[in-house]
Amino acid sequence: MTFESGVADRVRVVKSYEALSQLTAEQIANLLKANPYGRLGLPTGNTPRRCYEILAEWSSQGRLNWSKAKCFALDDYLEVEERFSFQHYLESNLYRFTDLPLDARFNPRQVDNYDQLILDQGGLDFCLLGIGDNGHIAFNEPPTPQESWTHCVWLSEETKQANRKSFESDSTVPTRAITMGISTLLSSRSLVLIASGKNKRKALHRALTGPPDKDLPASFLTTHPNLLVIADFDW
Ligand code: PGA
Repeated sequence: MTFESGVADRVRVVKSYEALSQLTAEQIANLLKANPYGRLGLPTGNTPRRCYEILAEWSSQGRLNWSKAKCFALDDYLEVEERFSFQHYLESNLYRFTDLPLDARFNPRQVDNYDQLILDQGGLDFCLLGIGDNGHIAFNEPPTPQESWTHCVWLSEETKQANRKSFESDSTVPTRAITMGISTLLSSRSLVLIASGKNKRKALHRALTGPPDKDLPASFLTTHPNLLVIADFDW
């Protein structure tokens, strides 16, 4: 079996963003049903929006029980108005529709040592990830080495540009963030990477077909034994 065909087994190509969102929501629902104590790493951004909407619907209908779960934001901006923070995003798009306890909503800005906190909580069972056009995962911008844990970063020009539409002016776009590192993410027992839209094709294709490379942080994911990639385009 070639490297590429091995990776191909881990990719599910679906027809639409809606199908991607449904399948991703099912992954999370199944995890919570199998393990109500599940510890989940969660991203923000546009890609998971519909998935969170579906999870919110199911939660409001009482079909999902979050009361014993714990959720960890993958990353967050630093020095940003609260309404733009990723904690606010997760609260308003997902948490407030669930019975996830307030003290089970973790964020890397809260503590000095997020990795220790995650470890103390039993480690991540599941991590959902998006991918940036430049191949970043969480806010691990190129280049980020595999041996990286939670750390503060300066955002790349490309990422600031991609984030610009959420802000009123160039000067309010955050320049710094805190993010789980590659090793934090790879320590999760399972990983699901979601990619929607053809603008992600180049980064995803390179990540899945090339060797692990710090200049394309998503490429490290292929070293994980329990990775599922869901894309709504032919990669
Ligand atoms: P997006 O961001 O879901 O808004 O495309 C993904 C990412 O940059 O990680």
